[in-house]
Amino acid sequence: MDVLISESEIQRRVTELAHQIEVDYQGRPLTVVAVLTGSLVFLADLIRNIRLPLRVGLLQASSYRGASTVSTGTLLINESFAPDVAGRDVLLLDDILDTGLTISALAQRMRERGAARVRTAVLLRKIGRQAVPFEPDYTGFSIPDRFVVGYGLDFNDDYRHIPYIGVLTDPLPAADPLP
Ligand code: IMP
Ligand code: MG
Repeated sequence: MDVLISESEIQRRVTELAHQIEVDYQGRPLTVVAVLTGSLVFLADLIRNIRLPLRVGLLQASSYRGASTVSTGTLLINESFAPDVAGRDVLLLDDILDTGLTISALAQRMRERGAARVRTAVLLRKIGRQAVPFEPDYTGFSIPDRFVVGYGLDFNDDYRHIPYIGVLTDPLPAADPLP
């Protein structure tokens, strides 16, 4: 595994984002909504550096299937843990913006659920892959079009616990055929 972004670089950037968020959300009813499972680690580090009253909510979304490293284009959203966001400022967190389909669909869902304002934060943004127009409000790092793991991001549900962002060097197995 090659290190793309080190643990200390991530910590420095996440702290910067938290401070920016702190300034932007003074006096506003903030609910941070994290997209499971990939943004768990980002969520934990980010909120511990935001010195404002805030609530935390979770959503689950998956567009990747099994060992596939390409999006199927089908987004499954599980809202069983979704918080009540009516009248609140939602800051939606995801690990990575790849095609943009996940974050744009979830931002729309938060509006449908009555959020007063929806903003988005992504730890990573992959260059050259976006399929729908969407601008996140906060971006940690822009990265090249490589499949990355660690700091919450997985390959086939492995590697989420690695404390840095890495690129798998072994050739990736071929994507599963769709059923
Ligand atoms: P999008 O809907 O295509 O923007 O994809 C976003 C989701 O795809 C993220 O929440 C990740 O779970 C997953 N994803 C995209 N690229 C990568 C990657 O390089 N490594 C791990 N997961 C990824
Ligand atoms: Mg994922």
